[in-house]
Amino acid sequence: MLSDAMEAALNEQMKAEMYSAYLYLSMAAHFDAENLGGFATWMKMQAQEEMMHGMKFYGYINEAGGRAVMAAIDAPPAEWDSPLDAFKNVLEHEQKVTGLINDLVDKAAEEKDHATGAFLQWFVTEQVEEEATAEEIVSKLQMVGDAPQGLFMMDSLLGKRQAGGSDSE
Ligand code: FEO
Repeated sequence: MLSDAMEAALNEQMKAEMYSAYLYLSMAAHFDAENLGGFATWMKMQAQEEMMHGMKFYGYINEAGGRAVMAAIDAPPAEWDSPLDAFKNVLEHEQKVTGLINDLVDKAAEEKDHATGAFLQWFVTEQVEEEATAEEIVSKLQMVGDAPQGLFMMDSLLGKRQAGGSDSE
């Protein structure tokens, strides 16, 4: 059984995951408008993954006897200066999400809520992958700089992303 405070915190994280989906979908729309279809595909896949993260929280809150509540989601930014700027934003956002997950783990430990602690472990591992993927793409984009051929190659590479995968290869 969830405490009221834990139920509220899990709902807050469900909202943060849904915001992540919204942020990445906004980046997809930005890239589509810039005719960078590969970057847009990667972002759409990432947005789907974030929806899945949100749904994991939804499912757990219900299973644990709580009530999932849909709070208002803030509007994300709509424009970025460059693909590098957007992926730096992805990395920064994922680092923030890692902090939120770690805070939840601490909260579960304080409350001796072992079931919630166990549920959150999947996200602890997932965040390592999320940050590593964003870091790798940022460093590749830094290598590419403003070279059009390099951006074209990155667009092709990221456009190969399949549902369920986050690798840039
Ligand atoms: Fe759901 Fe990208 O963390």
